[in-house]
Amino acid sequence: MCGIVGYIGNSQAAPIILDGLSKLEYRGYDSAGMAVFDGEKINIRKSVGRLKVLENLTHGGENMPGLCGIGHTRWATHGAPSDTNAHPHFNAEETIVVVHNGIIENYIQLRDKLISRGYKFVSETDTEVLAHLLDYYYKGNPLEAVTKVLHRVEGSYALGIVFADCPDQIFAARKDSPLIVGQNEDGCFIASDVPAILKYTRKVYYVDNYEVVRLRADHMHFYTVDEEEIKKEPVTIEWDANAAEKAGYEHFMLKEMYEQPKTVSDTLTPRVKGNDIVIEELNMTDEELKSISKIHIVACGSAYHAGMTGKYVMEGLARIPVEVDLASEFRYRDPILEKGSMVVVISQSGETADTLAALREAKAGGCKVLGIVNVVGSSIAREADNVMYTWAGPEIAVATTKAYSAQLIAMYLLAMKLGKVRGVISDETFAELLGDLKRLPDQIELLLNNKLKIQKFANRYIGAKDVFFIGRGIDYAISLEGSLKLKEISYIHSEAYAAGELKHGTISLIEDGTLVAAVSTQPALYAKTISNMVEVKARGAFVLAVTCEGNTEIEKAADYVIYIPETNPYFANSLAIIPLQLFGYYVAVGKGCDVDKPRNLAKSVTVE
Ligand code: AGP
Repeated sequence: MCGIVGYIGNSQAAPIILDGLSKLEYRGYDSAGMAVFDGEKINIRKSVGRLKVLENLTHGGENMPGLCGIGHTRWATHGAPSDTNAHPHFNAEETIVVVHNGIIENYIQLRDKLISRGYKFVSETDTEVLAHLLDYYYKGNPLEAVTKVLHRVEGSYALGIVFADCPDQIFAARKDSPLIVGQNEDGCFIASDVPAILKYTRKVYYVDNYEVVRLRADHMHFYTVDEEEIKKEPVTIEWDANAAEKAGYEHFMLKEMYEQPKTVSDTLTPRVKGNDIVIEELNMTDEELKSISKIHIVACGSAYHAGMTGKYVMEGLARIPVEVDLASEFRYRDPILEKGSMVVVISQSGETADTLAALREAKAGGCKVLGIVNVVGSSIAREADNVMYTWAGPEIAVATTKAYSAQLIAMYLLAMKLGKVRGVISDETFAELLGDLKRLPDQIELLLNNKLKIQKFANRYIGAKDVFFIGRGIDYAISLEGSLKLKEISYIHSEAYAAGELKHGTISLIEDGTLVAAVSTQPALYAKTISNMVEVKARGAFVLAVTCEGNTEIEKAADYVIYIPETNPYFANSLAIIPLQLFGYYVAVGKGCDVDKPRNLAKSVTVE
């Protein structure tokens, strides 16, 4: 996510802004910039790359004198990372400057209107619309201009705004993207998150939706978007600086697990238009979609597991043949890519070397490639023919959770779109599926709030040597991800097995007390999985079952049952994975492992 910092007071603003932005680097970004009023005009310095580049460009802020300024670290959404697309953004006369975190959903309509009125745009961003719209409404009253703009824009925003005519003020506003303001004896501050200003003050105000703040050097005023002044109470921050970066969570992984309801919603909502699914990024007509004869899904690690789920869902809902490959295998097996095949590569980072190589192999084979990527402007995003972004925001923990959940949503959307255009899914079934999709964020939230039960159970397995995850069909794909989550952060040996395969060798490893997690979310396979649970129990295993509410039959075969809310079986992975993520997390925490940075692992494997 982007980071915003602003300051107005008795000290030089630039060093304070740079310091604040450095405390927001954990949010992930690809460019940085700041604007400072120097007594006569507003100066901007901005550049793609790390904050260090901006620090060097401004000599630590020394060559940007002034007591009032705003700064920004950009996590690209609209427009690739570049100096021009970096924030802050000016109006044409360079008398108004703005930084923004969020997405202006109606920016295209607003931009077209402004262009028709003679405004010129220099960047590809949605944010630049705000600078020109503020210019359009500014007639000498900055608060009026700000509130008029806020009445026009749709979407999410946290804003910092400076008017050259009123350099003794900074304006801030918020809808859905976090923003705080604070004050000390030296001045007033705006920031996206607590860490940026914790060094200066522990007394902050959380700006609520549709609120506007006018900050001066020695006081702040709060308003509604209708310019009515309001009173707000400050909050005193008790966290230490390190905890603050994780918004009070102990680890980024836990924070990101709890962001999953929002991640799922952010990936889903922009692609649901009324009762239909619209995936503009496919850039394919319904006819072209119908002409796809086969899909190859290629990825690594958890992204591969999401692809495994995609296979079951796409073959089930769209009746289209799907082949799933590990990218490191695909790239060297001289794959047979028939005419009409589409290759889908999945990657959170968009930089995984094997997946990038697989993409190039597919393109060399004459295939169109769709990238399902989280990092905007990443190599895979740039080289794919089309990109469907998973709007999970930056994922810091090495073990993926929220990006994986977003990848699952992308699989469901693709499957439903294909099933609809191919006439395989009836309107009635489509509507039911859409309803189930929309319920997932709340259901995930419910499961996350059930963490204490999982935490207690996990504490019993901190000393485990071997853990097995078994399942059939989609439950096998879920088992793969559950097993990876456990082993990559707790270092406990774990394997996932197609439940029907266990008896072909691996069952010999089951001993007294061996934990076997049986995933059973597919009603058509309940009985089969229960018989596999009985098999391992007979050899001494302790069986943890993850199943759907109502499947109480399973209690005859399981020692411990975790129930997930009812949903369409095709979407069960999105729910069943939550207790398994929590299980892996709490086992690792119990073992004192470095959960966010597990040994031997990197967040993005950019080498073979
Ligand atoms: C998942 O928790 C791991 N961090 C790893 O398996 C990861 O999914 C894999 O390396 C693929 O990364 P990508 O999605 O960035 O391509």
